[in-house]
Order: sequence, then C-alpha cells, then structure tokens
Amino acid sequence: MLHYYDPKQALDPRHLSPERDYGTPARLSETLVSLEIDGTEISVPEGTSVLRAAALADINIPKLCASDNLEAFGSCRLCAVQIEGKRGLPASCTTPVEAGMRVTTQNARLAKLRRNVMELYISDHPLDCLTCPANGDCELQDMAGAVGLREVRYGFDGDNHLDAETDDSNPYFSFDPSKCIVCSRCVRACNEVQGTFALTIEGRGFESKVAAGQSEAFMDSECVSCGACVQACPTSTLMEKSVIEQGQPEHSVVTTCAYCGVGCSFKAEMQGDRVVRMVPYKGGDANHGHSCVKGRFAFGYATHPDRLKTPMIRESIDQPWREVGWEEAIAFAAERLKAIQARHGRESIGGITSSRCTNEETYLVQKLVRAAFHNNNTDTCARVCHSPTGFGLKATLGESAGTQTFDSVMKADAIVVIGANPTDAHPVFASQMRKRLRQGAELIVVDPRRIDLLKTPHHRGAQHLALRPGTNVAMINALAHVVISEGLEDREFIAKRCDESGYQAWREFILDPRHAPENVEAITGVPAEQVRRAARTYASAPNGAIYYGLGVTEHSQGSSMVMGIANLAMATGNIGREGVGVNPLRGQNNVQGSCDMGSFPHELPGYQHVADPAVRQRFEAAWGVPIDDEPGLRIPNMFDAAIAGDFKALYVQGEDIAQSDPNTQHVEQALRSLECLIVQDIFLNETAKFAHVLLPGSSFLEKDGTFTNAERRINRVRKVMPPLAGKQDWEVTVDLANALGYPMHYDHPAQIMDEIASLTPSFSGVSYARLDELGSIQWPCNEVHPKGTPTMHIEDFPIGLGQFAITDYVASDELSNRRFPLLLTTGRILSQYNVGAQTRRTDNQAWHDEDVLELHPADAELRGVRDGDWVGITSRAGQTVLRARISERMPPGVVYTTFHHPGSGANVITTDSSDWATNCPEYKVTAVQVEKVSQPSAWQQQFQSFDRLQLGLLRGGKDEAGASRPPAERANE
Ligand code: SF4
Ligand code: SF4
Ligand code: SF4
Ligand code: FES
Repeated sequence: MLHYYDPKQALDPRHLSPERDYGTPARLSETLVSLEIDGTEISVPEGTSVLRAAALADINIPKLCASDNLEAFGSCRLCAVQIEGKRGLPASCTTPVEAGMRVTTQNARLAKLRRNVMELYISDHPLDCLTCPANGDCELQDMAGAVGLREVRYGFDGDNHLDAETDDSNPYFSFDPSKCIVCSRCVRACNEVQGTFALTIEGRGFESKVAAGQSEAFMDSECVSCGACVQACPTSTLMEKSVIEQGQPEHSVVTTCAYCGVGCSFKAEMQGDRVVRMVPYKGGDANHGHSCVKGRFAFGYATHPDRLKTPMIRESIDQPWREVGWEEAIAFAAERLKAIQARHGRESIGGITSSRCTNEETYLVQKLVRAAFHNNNTDTCARVCHSPTGFGLKATLGESAGTQTFDSVMKADAIVVIGANPTDAHPVFASQMRKRLRQGAELIVVDPRRIDLLKTPHHRGAQHLALRPGTNVAMINALAHVVISEGLEDREFIAKRCDESGYQAWREFILDPRHAPENVEAITGVPAEQVRRAARTYASAPNGAIYYGLGVTEHSQGSSMVMGIANLAMATGNIGREGVGVNPLRGQNNVQGSCDMGSFPHELPGYQHVADPAVRQRFEAAWGVPIDDEPGLRIPNMFDAAIAGDFKALYVQGEDIAQSDPNTQHVEQALRSLECLIVQDIFLNETAKFAHVLLPGSSFLEKDGTFTNAERRINRVRKVMPPLAGKQDWEVTVDLANALGYPMHYDHPAQIMDEIASLTPSFSGVSYARLDELGSIQWPCNEVHPKGTPTMHIEDFPIGLGQFAITDYVASDELSNRRFPLLLTTGRILSQYNVGAQTRRTDNQAWHDEDVLELHPADAELRGVRDGDWVGITSRAGQTVLRARISERMPPGVVYTTFHHPGSGANVITTDSSDWATNCPEYKVTAVQVEKVSQPSAWQQQFQSFDRLQLGLLRGGKDEAGASRPPAERANE
C-alpha cells in the first residue's frame, strides 16, 4: 500500500496538524528516504526518526518519553519496533529512517515488551486515577490502555516513591514526585524549549528523581515559570493548579496573548465561559507551542474583582462616581465633547489609541477622531516607545516595520542585540534566540546593563559593549566606521540596492576620524578593540541580524539610532533574506498594529500621510466626511495645550498615560486641566482617577479582533467569554461616534477589517476568512503577496533604493553633573507587564511586588547605602523613593529601575527630554542623585492621598487603603 503523504510537506511543518504529536522534531533535509512501515510506503526527509515517519503515515506507535518538540531520549522503550534485518527491538524514537527499511510496529513480541514496560511504571505509581487531576488527560493512562495492560505482577508493596512530598511553592503549578515516571521530558523542555536549564535528573536507577536547581523548591531555583515542563509532563506530576482546583477543560478556542509583542498563540481551554488554563498553541507561527509566565498563567486579571463593569460619570474629579447605563454615559460624553468644541473650537479635543487594544478598535478610535471630532488629534502610546522606529525605518528602508520573522533568527550567524532585554521583555523569542546561540551563533550585546542573555547556558564568548547611557549613536557610527574603513562593506549590495549619492555622502561622513572607535571610546566608555572586534564579527558573518528595543528608541537621538542601525545593515548587505535584518522588538502586544492603523496625528492607516490629497480623497470617499490636511497634536503637545488652556477634552482607550508617560507631575497637571476626560479601560487606572466618564473596557478574552506582533504578523483574537460590562471595546467607540452624529455601523470586527483592507494597500489581502485559513498573515498582504510577506525587501525597498542617513552624534541634555552625578535608565521585568495593571492583579506579584533601584556596589558604598535601604532618587523633574538593590549588572555611575507599580513614581523623575524627530521621551537617560532616606517623597505622599480619595469616590465616598501605595509608605506601617 502506498501512503499518500506528500513528501514535500515534510519540509513545511505548517502542513502538519497542530493537534498531533509526531513523536520527534521535524528534519528539514531535502534528501528524501523511502521506507515501509506496517506495509505502508512512505518517503520522509533524511534524519527523520522511525517514530515520526510512522506518525506521518498515520501509524501510532506507543510512546512516553518522546515528544515532537524535544530531541529523542530513548528511555521508556515503549516505542520499540521490529526492523527487518536488525537485531533486537530498537526504540523507534532514536532510530533514524534508512532507505528500504521494513518496519513492524505491532506484533505479539512487541506487545509483550510494551506491557512489561508499563507494568514496571505502574507498579511504582499511585493508582488513584479516578481522583487524579490528570484523569482524562494523562499519557500514562492512555498508554496503559494502548498496550492492553490488564495486570501488574510486581505488586505495590516493594520500594516505591508514593510518599514523596509535593512542591507547591510555585503559585501556578505543583510538582508531585509520587506520580513521576522519570521520563525526563520536563528536563528536556526546560533545556531545549525554554533554555533555562533549571531542572536535572538527580541520582541513578531507582533513586533517580527530578530536581529543580540544587534540589530546591521551584520558587527558589532559576525556574522562570514558563510552564514548558508542565506542558511536557505526560502525567500529573507537574500540573497547573487551576486544573487541580477546577478539573479538566471541556472545550477550547485558539486566540492570541494580550501581553507582549511576541504575539504567542494560545488555546484558551475552557469550562463553559470560564478559562481553566491557557495552553500555548503548537500551530502558532510566532511561538510554536511555547509561552512565558505571563501568557500561560497570568490571565486571572480578566475576572479580578477590580474589573469595572458599569459605566460611570461625574461632573468633576472630586465628586463620587455615579453608575449609569451605557446610553446615559455615551450621551453624557458626546454632549460634553460637542459643547467643548462649540466653545473652544474643533481642535480642542482629541483621542488616544492603545497598543493593547485590537487593530479594529484602534482603527475605529482614529476614525472617530478624524471623522467625528473633525481633526487629526489622535496619537498612541507608541509615541512613548517605538515612534522613532516608524520614522527611522521609513526614512531608510521605506517601511515602518521590522524586516524578518522570528524564525529567521535560526539562520543568523551573528546576533546583535541593542538596547533590548529579550529574556524579560520578549521571553518566548528569547528562548528561540538562545536555541540558536546554543547552536553556535555569535552574540554581541550593546547595552549598559549585563542582561541575562549574556548568561545563556551552553553559549560562550558573547561580546558585551557596555556603553554609557545616551551614547548609542556614537557607538553605531563607530561600528560603521570600522566596517567601511576596514573594507568589510558589501559593495555589491550597496551598488545594486542603495542610492549611490546618499551612500557616498554617508561614506565620507562615517570615515571621518571622529567616528573611529579610538576617538569614540571617551564618549561611550567602551574600549576601541571591543568595538572593532564586534564590527568585524557582525560584518563578516554570513548572516548578521540586529534586534533592538526601547534602549534604542527612548532617547533624544532615538530616530538617529534607528537610522544608524539601518545604515549598518545596508552597508553590510544584511537585508532581504532569512537570518539577517533590522528587527525592532515591540513592547506591547499591538504596538505594530496601533501604528499601522493610523493612530499617529500625521498618518492615516498604512502610514499614508494626511497631507497627501490622493490619500485623503480615498478616505473621504469611504468615510463620507472631509479630512483635515494638517497633522494634529502629539501626546506631549496635547498635554502642553491642556495646561495652556487650549485643549479641553480627551478620549483615552486602554492606555494609562498618567503612569506611563514621563514627567508625571506635568501629565497630572494636564489631566487636571481638562474639562472632560473620557477613559475606557478594564480597571480604574491612574489616568481614570482624573476622568469624568468611565467606560468599562473588555479584556482580550471578551472580544474578537486582531493583534499585529513585532514580525508584522496579524493574529486573530477570539472571544471566549461574554464581555463583563456587556460591550466589546469597538462597540463603545461605535456608540460614541453615533452619539456625536457621525454614523458608524458594524455587526462584527470582521467588517472593520474589510474596511481597513479596502483603504490600506499593505492590508488589501487580509480578511478574517483568510486569517482562519492561513493561521496568521505577515503584512504586506496583497495581490503580489497573497499569503503575506515573511521577509521584507528581498528584491527592492518600497522606496526603490535604500537611503543612507547621516547620523551625527549629539550628546543628551541629560548629562550627569555634580548635582546629578548618576544616570538612571529604566526597563522591564519578566513577571510584570508595562504599567502592571494586569499582572499586579495576578499571582505574578510573587516575583516582583515592588520596583527597586539597582545600583552598583561602588555607588552604594559612596552613599552609605546597603541592600534593602530606602533611597531617594532626585532628578531635574522630581523625586521618588525606592528600595535599593545592590547589583553589578550596571556599570558604576548607572542606576536602573522598572515602572510596573504606580506608587513607585519612576516617571516622576523622568524628564521632558525627547527624541528630536518624534518626541519619544528619553526614558533611558535621566541624570539623578541618590541618597539614603527614611520616608516617601512628597509626590508619593500626595499620590497616596489622591489614590485613597479616588478609590473611595469609586466606591461611593468611602476612604480606601490603596493597593498601589508606594512601597516606602507600606514599609513604614
Ligand atoms: S517552568 Fe519553565 S523554567 Fe521552570 S522548570 Fe519548568 S520549563 Fe524550566
Ligand atoms: S515530572 Fe513529568 S515530565 Fe518530568 S520526569 Fe516526571 S513524569 Fe516525566
Ligand atoms: S507575554 Fe509575550 S512571550 Fe509571553 S506568552 Fe505572551 S506574547 Fe508570548
Ligand atoms: S518514546 Fe521512544 S523510548 Fe520512550
């Protein structure tokens, strides 16, 4: 019998069912090998295991220790087969196929062997299947059935592990060693999938057991709670506590994580409309079945008691909130907006879209502003993170987006990470990157901090250019200087793909001796020979890929640095194929999408400029209203105009500007100046405390839509439960538009996407039907690229030829001096997400329940500060108080904190200094002084009393103990 498995599909794992486990990983050899299994002929790529070949031919061989995301281990022997001409009964998971092989998977001898194996396992296993949380989802149970186990001859009285103690230290999963069959899948998942190497098998033979770290509790080990081991475990040894408490799920829906820009796909496994667990989806093209602690476990915020469920209004921010129906709230908001425009003019109101909301929701908010507010006063939180990426990449490469897929990193030979901390901020991609590093790729990290990627297990020789904050542009120019002066450029690529005159001008600029590493050393603090070595490594690697984050963009020269990165990639020909490229790592789940959807005041969806009459004409025809040809206000301009009395009302969807924007006191002053602030959010966030209208938002579990991740990948978000407040966010915007007199009507977000596709050339081939068919789509998706575009700029750039940009280094205004001798830089931590509104309402608090100030031992000693002391951090903008953590991750002179807790006031000290082109704030460089203190700062005390007041007003006037009090104050109680 010939099996009709198309061998070409073996090379493209997308054709395989994500619901099946094929036993061992795919091999991508183009050489095909034909063999016969149980009389079925099949051809598979060379190197494929017999177990996988059988699975591809729909022949199921029993297995326990094998899984298709892990290299075969061959310990359980359950997958034994008989192979003609070979001695014994080899394990099919560790036996590669050979041409002409004839394999038998079922006969009496194999059945006996498998039953014996199962008998041994079961004799050391508690037979409490009926009350076991894995009942119905246990591979050991399934295999006992598959091999026809009927009796256990060894009895249960001998030595066993049945009284081994359970480790419940992790808030999300438990480890019950009495159920462990020592298959090592968990250990291999931690090593191979996650790359943390937190688990080992200790001891030998009967004594062997799984151990976390140095035989510690999971919470005390290096475990980062990604859950890969839990997913890999074939028994209930490692088990989600939610399943133990609630029981097995009964249906599932595939959706997309709402945390970071990796955009992992998940199966939300449900009982009715209650989520029991989130299981990373193997068919997810961004994550291939892996996840981090946030996406897998931190979903409880969606049903947290703090969720806003009823619309509320009030006349002024010192009054209690009044609960009203949707109709009254929308009418109240619309009347205020209309009255303000009538009094203060068309430009006096605006809206802010969110990178946490869907593309469809974001599109509608900017449409509301343009079509119903009749101005372009729309902006988005990307203003404060990746706006320089949009500007810099558009100017040089012609498109405001990263050039690659995440999978592309598996073909990179030299990986340069600039101003990004992937293990904390983009953890699933970091695991993939670490896999490539373990395979031998070179790593160059350009960052003031010694980030965890530099400590990747089983990777040696990483280069760390620990530059001073604020000197990125000097560094990128020095790297480029080495490339050009040492003749390491790709002349063919430059001649064919780049603008010649622009290149010549840039070449002359970059060859200036002021850019030589020896002359830049005094600026960056990085020894010249380190810079030369890094430049040579990147330029001479067959494939060099650059990944960067907010440590590039959030500077006064953020846009220059993005262009400097593009210059370097073009000069070395590292554009337009797999394994190379310029890759911004987007922070929030839909930063890329919120920019794509026209959130910026100067651009309509698809980065089409409002000043272009042809563009406006198309939107005017579709929307039936004239569109203002003048760019509107950016967020910082809105704040300034509010304080000046010209800007009076703001609609903010899903964004917490009071916590996330710099110079908090300035932001608060602006918000207090507004006559009408409308906040749509799932919680009473910091911004909502200044609001007059509260419109309850819906979480990602409660709505349909799409998110676009850092690879330009559009993923579907699917509703798994009804919205707690009765409306999805897009419906609220539609209601507001209608109440303002601008008619909007959609029955489903699919229709909004159809409208986006009709107006945005790079989305013209995107529809929900197409997304369901393909799983996900990387834009541009159009007639030329009907399945999307995994790698950009293969033949040419959207602007024809690549444009080199002159990137002169200009020192930041935020230079340290005698008054402020230290430089503060900010970042994220794995367990918390952005302003923390979601993760602070989950058990992720167990890892990080307060922001701390990391400082070098030398700086601490100078100030008499010990680990755990309270320290005041003072900048030109303000002062806050945090607990000190002594750490050598920063060089002397640099201090670091996170901004996940509002009471910490990290942004009280960040200043108005911003990127010259886009106004993106310079979060990464603030000159500060640090000193030991004993009480919260004045701002923190004021924050605390305002927080109490507002929580009281929310609950009908009662004073409340705020959950977001500054840690220094809590410690004083
Ligand atoms: S949860 Fe993740 S990091 Fe922790 S032991 Fe399991 S696989 Fe390793
Ligand atoms: S904990 Fe689970 S995956 Fe790990 S060795 Fe035991 S049974 Fe296997
Ligand atoms: S937070 Fe990011 S890496 Fe983690 S599961 Fe969600 S999308 Fe994936
Ligand atoms: S599945 Fe092959 S030896 Fe365990």
